[in-house]
Amino acid sequence: MFKRFRRLRVNQAVRELSEETRVDVRDFIYPLFIKEGKNAKKEIASMPGIFQMSIDNVLIECRELKELGLNKILLFGIPEVKDSIGSGALCEHSIIAEAIREIKKIYPDMYVITDLCFCEYTDHGHCGILDLEHNSVDNDATLEIIARQALIHAKAGVDMIAPSGMMDGAIKTIREALDSEGFVNLPIMSYSTKFASAYYGPFRDAAESAPSFGDRKSYQMNPANRREALAESLEDEAQGADILMVKPALAYLDIVREIRDSSLLPLCVYNVSGEYSMLKFAANAGVIDYDKVLMETMLCFKRAGADMIISYHAKEIAQLLGKNKG
Ligand code: PBG
Ligand code: ZN
Repeated sequence: MFKRFRRLRVNQAVRELSEETRVDVRDFIYPLFIKEGKNAKKEIASMPGIFQMSIDNVLIECRELKELGLNKILLFGIPEVKDSIGSGALCEHSIIAEAIREIKKIYPDMYVITDLCFCEYTDHGHCGILDLEHNSVDNDATLEIIARQALIHAKAGVDMIAPSGMMDGAIKTIREALDSEGFVNLPIMSYSTKFASAYYGPFRDAAESAPSFGDRKSYQMNPANRREALAESLEDEAQGADILMVKPALAYLDIVREIRDSSLLPLCVYNVSGEYSMLKFAANAGVIDYDKVLMETMLCFKRAGADMIISYHAKEIAQLLGKNKG
């Protein structure tokens, strides 16, 4: 009888020895939504367990994260006022610049990454300056303000910058701006392959960034395209990206594998808001074993080729990994 495969599955010990992929708390980046004001903490209805917080509460959150072994965060800002060009992101006292300074002052070891985009800051909710003639976003006008936003974060002390707006040429523009001001050691994690996905729905509640008209299909990628997905990431590598990303994650693991096999750069997946909420609401309805489905999902991201994972589940994952150790 042919028993080759079952010999290495007979008990937990031998299964551990033959395990090819592992999930580690150090793989995770936790997103935070930061709003202006004091003592604010508001749960996002479409993302149970995730909150918009003012900076004072973010500092409390950082302590909790560190206790869980999580030391990498991704910041999104929700400004008080929005306008057509996203001015709220373009001054040195922007909500994110303030947050970076306060976090780094108290938690210098917290690795702070900022999402670089304008959809949270524009009154129309698009990711840059509008080109009204074409009912779209003006690529080159947006590049100018992206570079300014990057420098504001850099000067505030950010550890890594993650441009998510999908403007052509953004990585080259940001790299040149950073280098010219002496920030040669500040890495760029590009949202290099980012699809125009309905899975971002709950995020747009969280970040108050839903476009007021149209959609993002003139700058984000078509989910139908595999070759273009690869080309997007390779282009950002050529422009100087330090880390590549695939977003969303779950339905796009073929793309993760393809990029993993075509680039030597580290690769991140963004386990997006809609993916989070699907599991949460399924768990609340009592139809899945949440902890097991969650850990299986993370393991599969890594097996597909992800080196790191941005996830709203990061705190729960850290807790589960801690339990298994003890
Ligand atoms: C901003 C941005 C978005 C997400 C991350 N950065 C929203 C979008 O592009 O519409 C989505 C994250 C998520 O769904 O969790 N451009
Ligand atoms: Zn955006």
